[in-house]
Amino acid sequence: MADEQHPGGSERAADLFVAEHVRKSFKAPDGNELLILDDVNMRLRDGEILVLLGRSGSGKSTLLRMLAGLSQPSAGRLLHRGAPVDGPVPGLAMVFQSFALFPWLTVLQNVELGLEALKVPPAERRQRALAAIDLIGLDGFESAYPRELSGGMRQRVGFARALVINPDVLLMDEPFSALDVLTAETMRTDLLDLWAERKIPTRGILLVSHNIEEAVLMADRILILGSNPGRVRAEIPVALAQPRDRESPGFRDMVEHIYGIMTSRPAAAVNVAQRGATTIGHRLPDVPVNKLAGLLEELYALEQASGSPRISLPEIADDMHFSVDDLFPLIEAVELLGFAQIADGDIELTAAGRLFVDADVQERKPLFARHLLAGVPLAARIRAVLDERHNHRAPGARFRTELEDMLSEDEAVRVLETVIDWGRYAEMYAYDGNADVFSLENPGEDEAEGSGT
Ligand SMILES: Nc1ncnc2c1ncn2[C@@H]1O[C@H](COP(=O)(O)OP(=O)(O)OP(=O)(O)O)[C@@H](O)[C@H]1O
Ligand SMILES: [Mg+2]
Repeated sequence: MADEQHPGGSERAADLFVAEHVRKSFKAPDGNELLILDDVNMRLRDGEILVLLGRSGSGKSTLLRMLAGLSQPSAGRLLHRGAPVDGPVPGLAMVFQSFALFPWLTVLQNVELGLEALKVPPAERRQRALAAIDLIGLDGFESAYPRELSGGMRQRVGFARALVINPDVLLMDEPFSALDVLTAETMRTDLLDLWAERKIPTRGILLVSHNIEEAVLMADRILILGSNPGRVRAEIPVALAQPRDRESPGFRDMVEHIYGIMTSRPAAAVNVAQRGATTIGHRLPDVPVNKLAGLLEELYALEQASGSPRISLPEIADDMHFSVDDLFPLIEAVELLGFAQIADGDIELTAAGRLFVDADVQERKPLFARHLLAGVPLAARIRAVLDERHNHRAPGARFRTELEDMLSEDEAVRVLETVIDWGRYAEMYAYDGNADVFSLENPGEDEAEGSGT
């Protein structure tokens, strides 16, 4: 499945954008190199809507900024219509999650701004801005100020500002994700209509999203970007006819298929998990224990209701009113701890997961502790250090520093917070936040058992 995107060297004129072996790393404050994107190969073809789907932090925005010429790859090359990208790309417009509109300018003036930079004469500016406002369904609001508009209308102004330049290519970074569900859906359909009826001269659209249904609704082709580092993991052509029906079997199948790919672990990540005991600098999904227990209980309930142990991930997402981004860290956590397993877009409780759900509050803790020790090397390491030391105490900074060898400073803090939450729940160690000190003051199961005999 991986690396299907090799462009094979030759650039065709029909490609609006080509990325070849693109790599991007950033320098962390501690001087370490953080690799964000590694060997990304992709192309945006003439006439297509391409959706780039990936989880938060996979490097989607980073890739988009490089395509737009706003930042440079660390290695590899980027071509726009066959020419190297070495600065802002002409004929390109970007749409973001939200727009910084100038509050002291009217809607019309905000839209005209896009043309001022292009040195379009004032009369033509006005006429084109009015046409763009009309196109995007904002006529009547030309003289309104941003504060008078709803979030959805402000986002429309942003779209008008992008479309007024008659862009050859539109790069959109989660343009619908800050909107309420109904507004977002209306704007998706409006954009698809403009595109299908060729009311805009745009030859290609690249849409970044972490919403699987949005991708299946809009895309001619979907690229799935994996994380740590980001790479194109799969390419999926979407052959369903437009307009698409979210409830049709073809649509549902496609959504399930993509869930399956996004939740399967690439071989490299499996290796890291198996090397486990030596790797403490592994990211941990940032979820509190109570949410994790909530998911296990929900899985159990769905299993009882349906009579089948395998629950499809879209079903559990719907059921718990979760977005993909909320669900992924949770399933990663229960899988890491061995309480559930994922296969082909389905999730299933393991025997241990069922035991956990059945157990009462006190029985759950030692069970959780055993799985934490086995599945999370960092927790095992903290416990081992505390056991070794005479006073059974160790500063948190010590582990944070170790983590920073492998992770960014922010990430190290987050990972440590998670392992504190999980370890406290398991009564594997205590942590004093004021002093930043781990200790065994809160006796774990070993001591409790020891004093009982
Ligand atoms: N200028 C920078 N310096 C250091 N790290 C950066 C920089 N820009 C981005 N990153 C890091 O690169 C990673 C990818 O970021 P990016 O914003 O591209 O992800 P994304 O896929 O767009 O995520 P989201 O879905 O949350 O928008 C993140 O870990 C981020 O912290
Ligand atoms: Mg982003």
